[in-house]
Amino acid sequence: MLDKYDRDINYLRVSITDRCNLHCTYCRPKEGISLKGHDDILRYEEIIRIVSQAVKMGLVKVRLTGGEPLVRRGFAEFAAALKQTQGLQDISLTTNGILLDQYAEDIFKAGITRINISLDSLDKDKYFQITRGGHLDDVFRGIAAAEKAGFSPIKINAVVIKGFNDDEVLDFAQLALKKPFQIRFIEIMPVSSVNANQPEDFMPTNQLFDRICKHFKLEPLAGKKNKTDGPAKIYKVKGGPGEIGFINPVSDHFCSTCNRLRLTADGKLRACLLKDEEIDLRAALSRHCNDDELAALIQQAILLKPEKHDLDCTDRHLKKCHRDMSDIGG
Ligand code: GTP
Ligand code: 5AD
Repeated sequence: MLDKYDRDINYLRVSITDRCNLHCTYCRPKEGISLKGHDDILRYEEIIRIVSQAVKMGLVKVRLTGGEPLVRRGFAEFAAALKQTQGLQDISLTTNGILLDQYAEDIFKAGITRINISLDSLDKDKYFQITRGGHLDDVFRGIAAAEKAGFSPIKINAVVIKGFNDDEVLDFAQLALKKPFQIRFIEIMPVSSVNANQPEDFMPTNQLFDRICKHFKLEPLAGKKNKTDGPAKIYKVKGGPGEIGFINPVSDHFCSTCNRLRLTADGKLRACLLKDEEIDLRAALSRHCNDDELAALIQQAILLKPEKHDLDCTDRHLKKCHRDMSDIGG
């Protein structure tokens, strides 16, 4: 599936719910968000139909996101059914880890073996503060359950906020010395209505890289990356089993290699994380569209992909993105 700029679009991120059991300051506004009703979001069968059609057109990788995907009932059964899609090579999951202790084994048995877990602080009080009420012990239990179940790789996502958690980068890096995890530092994106995201919160990942290099030896892994891998620049940490990754959508965007589309919980196919152009697949499915019509809509979304987003670190809110991250799935 080639877009207008010759990029091969083979990766779909599917947000299966806009609900979340955390309320991270950088992801959704303090006042809360209007949650969609069950009738407003895609049924699991509808997601599977869309993915099957996209796979026929060249999709190979799906990442399940939210909100928090594990709060939607029947997740493991859905994952097992999705796994049956002929031609789909890879299904992975992004979660906050809070419910993983309960579900890790079932999800692994369903055939999802790669997992990304959001964890922005290793300090209990800070974690509670940034998630507006989350308990760090729950995530640690979840990560342990993921390890025990056999997930590999396990990637840990930390959104870096200057003056809040940037002093923890060495503690995070230390984790990669002890555990076979890939720890990824993510630049904060000033999306939509989230008041917490200010230009002064922003810290470019090259500063973190320099800081980590003073204490750890990092060896680039770029050449070993898989074609469908996400945007992280990855390094091996000398002396330990883990890796460190940097995701810099703001300071050095990776749009020229962007290979993805996003499906929102309410059935909109979104061409770029940071732009609002969307194609309404749910409306088409409700009209009982046939496969050719569905394929044409997917193709239309691909052709909507812009050459690049126009976010920079001085933006306070991104005017062209009216949805919250929790609504899009990151
Ligand atoms: P893998 O490398 O396949 O494990 O996944 P990933 O890094 O794409 O997925 P994950 O859900 O862990 O996302 C990590 C961070 O990268 C999140 O903050 C995303 O918002 C950001 N990100 C992922 N894809 C894009 C993208 O297309 N554009 C931008 N600007 N940011 C992205
Ligand atoms: N900026 C950067 N990353 C974000 N995420 C959510 N909101 C933002 C934001 N404003 C990240 C989450 C999760 C991933 C899917 O997206 O931390 O790890």
